[in-house]
Amino acid sequence: MTRPITTICCIGAGYVGGPTMAMIAKKCPQISVTVVDISQPRIDAWNSSELPIYEPGLDEIVFECRGKNLFFSTDVEGAIRDCEMIFVSVNTPTKKTGLGKGKAADLTYWELAARTIAACSESDKIIVEKSTVPVRTAEAIEKVLQRNCPHDGVRFDILSNPEFLAEGTAIVDLDAPDRVLIGGKIENAKGQAAVDALVGVYSNWVPKENILTANLWSAELSKLAANAFLAQRISSINAMSALCEATGADVQQVSHAIGTDTRIGSKFLNASVGFGGSCFQKDILNLAYICECHGLPEVAEYWHSVVGMNDYQKSRFVKRMISAMFNTISGKKISMLGYAFKKDTGDTRESPAIDVGHGLIEDGAKLNIYDPKVAAAQIALDMGEEAMKSITCCKTHTESLTGAHAVCIMTEWDEFKTYDWEAIYGVMQKPAFVFDGRLILDHQKLKDIGFIVYALGKPLDPFLCSAEGAP
Ligand SMILES: NC(=O)c1ccc[n+]([C@@H]2O[C@H](COP(=O)([O-])OP(=O)(O)OC[C@H]3O[C@@H](n4cnc5c(N)ncnc54)[C@H](O)[C@@H]3O)[C@@H](O)[C@H]2O)c1
Repeated sequence: MTRPITTICCIGAGYVGGPTMAMIAKKCPQISVTVVDISQPRIDAWNSSELPIYEPGLDEIVFECRGKNLFFSTDVEGAIRDCEMIFVSVNTPTKKTGLGKGKAADLTYWELAARTIAACSESDKIIVEKSTVPVRTAEAIEKVLQRNCPHDGVRFDILSNPEFLAEGTAIVDLDAPDRVLIGGKIENAKGQAAVDALVGVYSNWVPKENILTANLWSAELSKLAANAFLAQRISSINAMSALCEATGADVQQVSHAIGTDTRIGSKFLNASVGFGGSCFQKDILNLAYICECHGLPEVAEYWHSVVGMNDYQKSRFVKRMISAMFNTISGKKISMLGYAFKKDTGDTRESPAIDVGHGLIEDGAKLNIYDPKVAAAQIALDMGEEAMKSITCCKTHTESLTGAHAVCIMTEWDEFKTYDWEAIYGVMQKPAFVFDGRLILDHQKLKDIGFIVYALGKPLDPFLCSAEGAP
């Protein structure tokens, strides 16, 4: 029988490492969990009352477990030395230079973590890939570990345990996951024992039937495949939204009609200004690159088109705004409500607001950005110095909307639905435009107030139909 794990270290205290380890600590009080990172400010924030990331329900768990069996530290070497199991949850962004630039996953951080593990390990370790990585990364990592460990006889067992949580609902997802996937060398006894050890950790709260085991390569590929399928659904319904506008159909009625087919299912069928987040685009580009490397250009092209459709949706939204506002937005004030890539997170990575913002500024607009959870410093970092000359980061929605010619909804924050839109109409320039990129507002009510409304994928307002150059 496999001995239960009592000490875990996680390398990478980010959006995945932090919440995932907090949940393990909460559900497994008998396990000591240490989360380490090379970033001192990030670790300081995890040890403070203002955690570095916003996730509903995360604070409570961290404050409950921190200092008992959950620790945050920059002592990477010490934590590696003292634990039995190491989760690696470092970032794996798209390569910016060199071979595979703009497509392949950059495994620099992963390899650095593996070299540190090799150098500091004095006893056997189970290494758990939490980061999303290309298929067969485990093979490369195993070589790095075996050839760089100065201590004889240290054994490394590598497992793939991709994370399927979604930002904004991370705690709910971790508490009751649809499934946990564990890939390992199940064909040999030691590999199976390592898998059993990780199954033992999750079994503290996840029902056995929800813990799936697979071979290493299937587990690695399943994560890329899952993200590709999810993104593809969004691009498919977004493609339909363009056709709906052209034909007078209503995308919400179409998605409801097709979603009631149990073979299709109703989730993830909301048309929007586009998907964002750190994962979808990067993982699809990586998947397509892997296909190319395996001589499958047609398969690569198929997945590429999902990203292409997402880019099209963002530029279509910008064009729609410009054409509606008499083909000129130069000098006009536009209120941007929402900047995070989705609600209930402060994460802005690959947020559609970034591309839409740049598109509007290129045409001369002045942006008033308001997001309940995104700091001005983050917006400045994403948009760059030049664009910031045309941006005001607002502390309240009223500040953002006062004197604006138009408002665009970029994130589906619930609070936007509760605003007094009649009062907002009063403080905006006329004609006052609403561009709802998330389909969250009551469009009829807005029209009754006097707004000209563009709701993505819905039958067009006659005012917009007649707009010259409308996409
Ligand atoms: N964000 C998500 O929703 C999500 C969901 C599922 C999977 N993933 C995957 O999980 C991985 C991590 O994503 P994230 O969003 O948590 O990234 P992140 O950028 O928020 O966090 C990664 C952390 O790793 C640290 N780090 C990098 N190299 C290190 C090293 N050698 N030693 C110690 N710390 C190091 C960084 O400083 C950073 O704090 C990625 O591969 C991502 O694709 C992310």
